[in-house]
Amino acid sequence: MSQASLLHRPVVRSVQSAIPTAVNAAESAAVLSVAPAAVAVSDADTVIRAKGVSVFYGAHEAIKAISVTMPRNNVIALIGPSGCGKSTFLRSINRLNDLIPGCRMTGELLIEGQNIYDPKIDLVALRRRVGLVFQKPNPFPKTIYENIAYGPRLQGLNGRAQLDELVEHCLRKAALWEEVKDRLTSSALGLSGGQQQRLCIARALATKPDVLLMDEPASALDPIATGKIEDLIQELKSSYTIVIVTHNMQQAARVSDRTAFFYMGTMVEYDRTDIMFTNPTNKQTEDYVTGRFG
Ligand SMILES: Nc1ncnc2c1ncn2[C@@H]1O[C@H](COP(=O)(O)OP(=O)(O)OP(=O)(O)O)[C@@H](O)[C@H]1O
Ligand SMILES: [Mg+2]
Repeated sequence: MSQASLLHRPVVRSVQSAIPTAVNAAESAAVLSVAPAAVAVSDADTVIRAKGVSVFYGAHEAIKAISVTMPRNNVIALIGPSGCGKSTFLRSINRLNDLIPGCRMTGELLIEGQNIYDPKIDLVALRRRVGLVFQKPNPFPKTIYENIAYGPRLQGLNGRAQLDELVEHCLRKAALWEEVKDRLTSSALGLSGGQQQRLCIARALATKPDVLLMDEPASALDPIATGKIEDLIQELKSSYTIVIVTHNMQQAARVSDRTAFFYMGTMVEYDRTDIMFTNPTNKQTEDYVTGRFG
């Protein structure tokens, strides 16, 4: 994404990781901004950079001074107990928290070097470049074809042949084409949960994002459908930077290159996934990934 791409974009049919070493969550917020870069990421490789990001719901500070650097073509897993702020942080990356009354954010969040909270940012363009897949599949009550074609059409793509090609491309990318190619005009609501989730991923791909955010995308799926989503994530990371929230430690270990452990609104530790699961610095991380947390 070019520096200027999110600024003043004509609205089409308007729509180094910081590795905290603190031994407890309260301390970790204090060291986040000064922690050494144990897994340094060069500026050129950095896609997402958070600098002291805090998010408040009213007076409640849900995430506290998160600083993190996420590199291109990586899968980054966000793990941590319920309520620790994973979804809040994820939503801050495409400014979805803006839609929540009383929610405000401080700090800086940059994508490709550009502060996405700059008032001049085009939110439509931002959300197109930063796709979000939710825990519960949420296809539009439209045909399978229309679920994919809808976004690009809003962006002005109207040629039938081009749309056909894009729909097939996205469904193939999402490993769904073979299962639905003969029923493209059927309702998306008739698909199974796992198919609906892959359709939602295909839909997110249709607007050509750079970043894919996934909030527990496989938590409602059986092991076979989950395996397909995980294979898909591996496949997609050659083209996208993917941030995935998961409660499934095996899944985090299988699919991600880097893992961030959140606890009570702070990011306690962030490192390469193999290190996080075999030799984490922080005792809380170790307890959490080994299931001894409590
Ligand atoms: N819309 C909201 N309004 C008020 N408080 C909220 C809102 N969404 C989240 N919170 C609060 O912010 C904190 C972090 O919530 P968040 O949903 O980010 O946690 P999470 O780590 O994603 O949890 P889970 O694993 O259960 O999904 C919690 O205390 C939660 O109650
Ligand atoms: Mg959540």
